[in-house]
Amino acid sequence: MSISGTIKGAALPFYKWIYDAVMGNKESRYLYYRLAVFLSTRGIAPLLAPSASSVKERWRRQGQDSAADNPATYAVEDASVRELFRDVFPCLGKDSRILEIGCNAGRSLNYLYKNGFRNLTGVEIGPEAVELMKTAFPEAYRGSTIIVGDASDAVKRFKEGEFDLVFCHSVLVNIHPRYNHIFRDMARISRKFVLILENEGSCTAYPRDFKRLFEKEGLKMVAFRVLAGADAAIPAPFEDRHIYVNNTIRLFVKDKSSF
Ligand SMILES: C[S@@+](CC[C@H](N)C(=O)[O-])C[C@H]1O[C@@H](n2cnc3c(N)ncnc32)[C@H](O)[C@@H]1O
Repeated sequence: MSISGTIKGAALPFYKWIYDAVMGNKESRYLYYRLAVFLSTRGIAPLLAPSASSVKERWRRQGQDSAADNPATYAVEDASVRELFRDVFPCLGKDSRILEIGCNAGRSLNYLYKNGFRNLTGVEIGPEAVELMKTAFPEAYRGSTIIVGDASDAVKRFKEGEFDLVFCHSVLVNIHPRYNHIFRDMARISRKFVLILENEGSCTAYPRDFKRLFEKEGLKMVAFRVLAGADAAIPAPFEDRHIYVNNTIRLFVKDKSSF
């Protein structure tokens, strides 16, 4: 359990003081970020990150009480969606079975649908986001199987090799390290590919060494790109200290001959 989820009452100002001191300084924030990657990769919550229950609740209630997480933000196809599939598209037949974890209002599923893929499944914890998909992308919604629920539970119920591609866009840094089994399950249920786009510089959440985690499960990383995000004015590349723009795309394969 992380400290931020348990501190209440009189200790809260003290916690906030530490948080501001660490995050307010570029050097200490970077050191904290490196520590957060180390801990989250090993299943331990970084001290200043939200608790498991609060982060789930935040996403479950998105669109209900917080403008910041409004699903409308994600109902827009942008360059990140097109970039995400650039490396894997040439390797996929149109009959590929594809699972998206944390599909929100379905912009990536809609992109796949527009590109002729018809065997699509999404898992999303926020019911409001799925409601929005019905109106934002009605054809993709009707043509996909959408499961409303917690991905860390849902992945356990899929069969081994049930999908050719398992992917997510900006989701894994929001999954608490307590649920690190999700990496094993994503590898298990994919027959060929695991594809992720993550803001790896999310130092206030749960950044991880994704290469290490998936390769531990027997996958091989075959593509890696840094994607300058919405804030592209701040220069990449990765490992520079501008950690908020380190959106990366990583493609993993089960068998190198399929890429
Ligand atoms: C930053 S948003 C990205 C949304 C979407 N992937 C996109 O790019 O349009 C993170 C998404 O992950 C979902 N999410 C977070 N934790 C989840 C969980 N435990 N199970 C399922 N979805 C989750 C959130 O509800 C949200 O839709």
